[in-house]
Parts: sequence; C-alpha cells; structure tokens
Amino acid sequence: MKIVFLSSTGQLGGAENVLLDALASLREARPAWTLHLIVASEGPLVGRALSLGVGAEVLAFPPALARLGDAGAGGNAGHTVSRAQLARRLSSSLPSVAGYIRALSRVLSRLGPEVVHTNGFKMHALGAWARPRGASVVWHVHDYVSSRPLAARLLSASARRCDLVIANSESVASDVRAVTGGRLEVRTIANAVNLERFAPEGEMLDLDALAGLPSPEPDTVRVGLVATLARWKGHDTFLRALALLPRDSRVRGYVTGDALYQTEGSQYGLEELRRLAAELGVSGRVGFTGYVADAAAAMRSLDVVVHASTAPEPFGLVIAEAMACGRALIASEAGGALELFSTGENALGHAPGDAEGLASRIAQLARDAPLRAALGRAGRATAVRRFDRARLASELIPVYEELRKADFGLRIAEHELTEDDAAPYH
Ligand code: GLC
Repeated sequence: MKIVFLSSTGQLGGAENVLLDALASLREARPAWTLHLIVASEGPLVGRALSLGVGAEVLAFPPALARLGDAGAGGNAGHTVSRAQLARRLSSSLPSVAGYIRALSRVLSRLGPEVVHTNGFKMHALGAWARPRGASVVWHVHDYVSSRPLAARLLSASARRCDLVIANSESVASDVRAVTGGRLEVRTIANAVNLERFAPEGEMLDLDALAGLPSPEPDTVRVGLVATLARWKGHDTFLRALALLPRDSRVRGYVTGDALYQTEGSQYGLEELRRLAAELGVSGRVGFTGYVADAAAAMRSLDVVVHASTAPEPFGLVIAEAMACGRALIASEAGGALELFSTGENALGHAPGDAEGLASRIAQLARDAPLRAALGRAGRATAVRRFDRARLASELIPVYEELRKADFGLRIAEHELTEDDAAPYH
C-alpha cells in the first residue's frame, strides 16, 4: 500500500501532532507500507516525519494561498473577517490556487499513491482537485466546518472528489455531515497520544525561569493553559479567572504557547496578552513561557492543566495529553471535548468563557491536593484505556484497505483495466 499524506502547514499544532502519531502508529503496524508526506510550509513537521522513516517534502503554498483562510471569520474566533473580505482574498489568490493544484498533481502522479490522506481545509480541497488517477481521497477533518464559511463552501464543492471523511470526534462528524448534506461517508476516529511521552513521570521544566519570574513560595500551586494563541482558546477567560482568585491563594498561572499559524487575524500576540494581564492586575501572578517544544514536560511541571476554549472544541488534544500525564485537569464543557472526560471523575468542567466558574474550579483544586491526585490518577487510567496511539493504526488500516478495494471494484466495473492500471493493486 502506498499512502500520501498532505498537510496544509509544517508547524506543529494539534492536527499535525495527531498526523505524526498516526504515521508512527502505521509505521509500526505496517512496516512494508510506503508512507509519504507533502507539507505546504517549512516547519518542524517534515523533520519529525523523516525521523519516523516517512518520506517527506515541502511543496510550499505561494504567499497568497498561505495567507488565505477564514479561521478569523465568526465561529471559533473573536476577530471577525467579513464575507466580502474573504471573497476578495479568495479571488486574488485564484491564480496561485490553480498553479498549486497543477504542481501538486505532478508530484502526486510521480508518487502514485493508492490513497491520499489530507489534513487541513486547504489540503482537503486541493488534494481532492489534484487527485491522481486511481487514488482514493480521505479527508481527516479536525475542526468544525460550519463555522468557517469559506471552508464550508470549498468542501461542499469538492465533496464528490472525496471518498471518505475521518472526523476526530462525533461532534465534528455531525458537523461535516450537516455541511455536506449527508453526501459523504463520515467515520469517527478519536485522536490518540503517545502514552510513553505523555506520562506522569519524566522530565520537567523550570517554567518560572522560562517566563522570567522569580521562584514562587514553595507550596504554590502551578496552574497553566497550554495552547496555541488562537483567540478561541480562552486566554482572556484564563487571565480573568486568575484575577478573580482570592488574593491570598497560593496560585501561579502560566500561559504556554505562541502564535503558530500563518492565517491572518485569528491569533493573540504575546504582547497583547501581557497587556491584558497588566490591566487585570495579575502581571506578577502569571508567567508567559512562549512556545515550549516538549508539551509533556510543560504539563508535568504543572499541578493543574487548564483547557479554556470559549467556542466548542472539536476534540481538544491537550485534554487527552494532560490526562495521559496524570495531571489534574479543568476543561471547557462543549463540543467534542465533552466526549473525552466526565466532570468529577477524571477532570473538572466549566462552561466556555465562564471566568467565575473557572476561578472557582482553580480555587477548589488549589485547596485540595488529594482531589488533584485522584483526578490525575483517573485521567491517566482513562488515557491508557482510550487514547493509546496504537489504536490509530488499528482503526486507519481497515479504512485504507476498504478504500483500495472499493476503488478497485469500481474501476473494474467502469473501465477495462490495462496492465498499468492494475499494477498498483498487485
Ligand atoms: C484541531 C482542533 C482540536 C483538535 C486537534 C487535533 O486543532 O481544533 O480540537 O484537538 O485539531 O484533532
């Protein structure tokens, strides 16, 4: 079997980490399969794929195509881009879109995959249009489509060129079905993590030094939001919650992460967050560590991991990762995230955007070390049961094999096969 994976970005966000885990899991389960990755921008993804023994190359988006995106349009974002602005951006990038599809189809024809597996909205559409003869296309959808007008239109228009959709949660699966009018087969494969890397024991970081803060009092409880700086990840809710904590609480907050994607208008800048912290009077109680490559070590250095997305979270990889690290977790209760934890059992929940609710959960956990430990243990047990990345290969392999057979059957029915056509199936 030969599979080519397409990624819209070379940076490592949640979707790219899941892609790497899927590649690692497939490599292990099917060492003889040929796996190849094409990435649309420079970044750590290519090197990480190469180190897994996966062929990888960059086929860079031209700048107009790289900037194009509607992550800022309504839905999950605080900053809104109007439909007219989107339409203008789309039409000005059309020549580069056409050029990119031509370049991508040349590379795909050279590689001759049986399955093209796409990550990211742009690659779903581009991969579908550049699809080589005889290949099946699988869209691996990690985000809600309905909240992104441009993505929704592009996916609807390309739906008949896609054979199957994998969604990261039931919640995203329902959304894709709604947007594509039930025309596409959608299966849910929940994300998974590397349980050896995301483990309760292991390397830890000096978060205070990273944030340029003096060491806190010895019994300080460290509470941190680990996320990209996308506006809907709830940094403002987290900072407001810290400001609402009683003055005498021994809590220090940490914001770990930095702006990641090239899409315009959808992210905070660290300076903006520092200003907000100053306005709220919590500058001395919160540290900004910037991007940390080892998210597991960052989580292990915290007593409480906070997930604070203000819009429904499609999956929420950080939730699975924090559970796997055996850390107490407070998560925002909406969207696919609701499929991952049960409040009171293996995490505590709060309503999206509810700073007071979040503050009271933080205060509760700061007071109660045994509760933190119990939630951490239950979280690890849940992760071992549900989020082991070996499951990714065992759920993906049947999908790829089915697609190869389905396509083969269809082609026999529709055409007379030539020797060349049949070659990849032997
Ligand atoms: C996207 C989603 C996030 C999910 C990740 C991996 O980043 O927004 O919820 O955890 O993909 O599927």
